[in-house]
Amino acid sequence: MPVITFANTKGGAGKTTAVLILATELARQGYRITILDADPQHWISRWHDISGTIPNLSVISYVTMASIQQHITENQDRTDCFIIDLPGTRNPLLATALGLSDHVLIPIQGCAMDARGGAQVLELLKYLSDKAGIEIPHSVVLTRVNSLVTTRALLSVKMLLAERQVHVLGTPIIERSAFRDIFDCGGTLTGMDPAKVSNLDKAMENARQFADEVTRYVPLRRGRPTFRRLSDAA
Ligand SMILES: Nc1ncnc2c1ncn2[C@@H]1O[C@H](COP(=O)(O)OP(=O)(O)OP(=O)(O)O)[C@@H](O)[C@H]1O
Ligand SMILES: [Mg+2]
Repeated sequence: MPVITFANTKGGAGKTTAVLILATELARQGYRITILDADPQHWISRWHDISGTIPNLSVISYVTMASIQQHITENQDRTDCFIIDLPGTRNPLLATALGLSDHVLIPIQGCAMDARGGAQVLELLKYLSDKAGIEIPHSVVLTRVNSLVTTRALLSVKMLLAERQVHVLGTPIIERSAFRDIFDCGGTLTGMDPAKVSNLDKAMENARQFADEVTRYVPLRRGRPTFRRLSDAA
């Protein structure tokens, strides 16, 4: 089953938020998703704990370099797609997770610091390709993009990526309060109250477009629906 990893060694680039947006949207579309929460801060696991059961979505909380491959092997049969959330530091797990991935998504906000963290991931991908002949498809996803204005910083990051011929997804993740609030409220965008969350419909549309673009690059097949929480079973 395909493995998608979100990686950027710069903290706060938007990895965990993008993992959540993609995972909940794909689960809503009927794909069985397992998130491997490899971040020691466990934001995804905390969100899952307050969310209750979400159809088609499971979270594995304690993922280490020693256990990651085993989690994937053991859960193959009940998963249509694994999504890995990595910590925002240079970590030994990074190379292992990249090596297991069918596609690596590198979230970058329109700022130079983020682009540098993204460049470290790109360098590691190049190293794996040059030294070990392992070619891992990858794309940058622009995150926290302002829906109204294009900043100068975002333009320069876009130019830098184009110069280096790095593939950038056409759908950026827009800065939306819904994407922030979901960590406090738990659950999914579908369960939020449009009267209380501004532009919820636009956030949902953004999530749909993002997931649709990702599944064009990483085709998925739907298996049997599941309501079981792997964290409960562990
Ligand atoms: N699209 C978005 N809209 C609104 N807020 C966002 C968005 N993306 C990220 N944020 C906010 O930015 C902060 C950092 O995001 P996030 O935790 O997803 O980054 P990260 O790369 O996972 O960080 P770390 O490296 O620490 O794990 C969080 O407060 C999050 O709520
Ligand atoms: Mg994170």
